[in-house]
Amino acid sequence: MARRTARRPITARNADRYALYQEAVQSPEDDFAFLRRIYRRHNGREALHLREDFCGTAYLSSTWVKRSPQHTAEGFDLDPEPLAWGKQHNLAPIGDAAKRVTLHKKDVREPGLRKPDLRLAQNFSYYVFQTRKELVEYFTAARKSLAKDGIFALDVYGGTEAVAEVEEPRSIGRGVRFVWEQHRYWPGTGEYLCFIHFRFRDGSKLERCFRYDWRYWSIIEVREALHEAGFRHVDSYFEQTDTPDGEGNGKFKLDQRGGSGRDCIGMVAYLVARA
Ligand SMILES: C[S@@+](CC[C@H](N)C(=O)[O-])C[C@H]1O[C@@H](n2cnc3c(N)ncnc32)[C@H](O)[C@@H]1O
Repeated sequence: MARRTARRPITARNADRYALYQEAVQSPEDDFAFLRRIYRRHNGREALHLREDFCGTAYLSSTWVKRSPQHTAEGFDLDPEPLAWGKQHNLAPIGDAAKRVTLHKKDVREPGLRKPDLRLAQNFSYYVFQTRKELVEYFTAARKSLAKDGIFALDVYGGTEAVAEVEEPRSIGRGVRFVWEQHRYWPGTGEYLCFIHFRFRDGSKLERCFRYDWRYWSIIEVREALHEAGFRHVDSYFEQTDTPDGEGNGKFKLDQRGGSGRDCIGMVAYLVARA
């Protein structure tokens, strides 16, 4: 007979910040359903080799390789702590499939072992590049790395509220609130300081659990930088909504007006670049 085990409430004392992060802002299955479809639409076959830039805990890579024995992945991140967490919590549980993932403690501008069919930079992580020169260097390295017909996909954040100094709390279940804080934005330089906090039902908190010293890059700037880096095609897929308050539903649709999008206070888009 199955024993019911009471799940301990999550508090600041027992919380695992990487597990909470993954739960709050990552959904690899949904992302891959979308990106595999885009790749198939362009190439009529499956993407097999993934390169996950800014991979952190390698949640995407570990999900990708479970798909089939032909699916392989490489992840790049400079920080050994999330990489080690990912090996223990994301790769170890998938057994032999983990052998098809190679993690590199390296800058994303470094070359990998194999040319990826799909190269991915998520959760705006390339905002870490503070100058256009660095951004274009990264995009150029990405373009040159791709396999024939490969695609480079990255998300981008726009709308009038993108640069407002605001806190956005939302519940992620089990009495945990995830808070995204745009703490400071300096309009003259584009510097953008953001934090993630977690707050718990018992009143405990993990304040400034993750810190991002970023530069805010608008959708237009990112598109232009991709073209400058030599990508000939950059398609914009804007997140859709099905509620009156305009909350995103995680579904992305190709913008038919050449990437213009529609005005709203906060929007997330995927840019898909091809050489
Ligand atoms: C916002 S987290 C992304 C985590 C996760 N991959 C995601 O999509 O949500 C940004 C990650 O980028 C890494 N990072 C920052 N600059 C980097 C660089 N130049 N090269 C490689 N990794 C970098 C950080 O160590 C951090 O783990």
